[in-house]
Amino acid sequence: MEIHQETDRDISVNVRFRLNGVAYYKPAPVNWTLLRFLRDDLGVYGTKCGCEVGECGACTVIINGLAVNSCLIMASQVDGADIWTIEGVATPGTNSLHPVQEAFIERDAIHCGFCTPGTIMSTIALLLKNKRPGDDEIKIALAGNLCRCTGYIQIIEAVKKAASSISAKDLEKFIPKKR
Ligand code: FES
Ligand code: FES
Repeated sequence: MEIHQETDRDISVNVRFRLNGVAYYKPAPVNWTLLRFLRDDLGVYGTKCGCEVGECGACTVIINGLAVNSCLIMASQVDGADIWTIEGVATPGTNSLHPVQEAFIERDAIHCGFCTPGTIMSTIALLLKNKRPGDDEIKIALAGNLCRCTGYIQIIEAVKKAASSISAKDLEKFIPKKR
């Protein structure tokens, strides 16, 4: 008997979205998560794959101004979305990091770095709605981002440092664009 192996991309829907400020219109396999779409199609490897069940936060991206676990939504759901990943955080061509990235380095809040892209995206999403968060607000915002080697004290200090140094201009591009 002949078996026809079908690929798991056979059924796709076209989606229109912005990723790190660039407009895309392309087919999204209906059974792929956004996490897989980012990594396996769009080549955005900074978004990390940890648990794939919404527990670790390593896959966190910003969608329409909010921190979202990209393993928990389907690629086909991003039609019309404004998506930001760690690759879009620093401004290309400037040779300088974003203030949130600088704060994480300065406060020694990065060790192996696996959780860092997701934690930075959650931090930016927090600062978009609250420019001066207190400790409790930071803990709540980052509760979904697990870190197994830095320790959370340094991460909280990094978020506070970022909040003290960030300007409205540093956050401007992450504010969702009206369509
Ligand atoms: S990979 Fe998405 S929450 Fe862990
Ligand atoms: S820096 Fe290693 S898991 Fe957070």
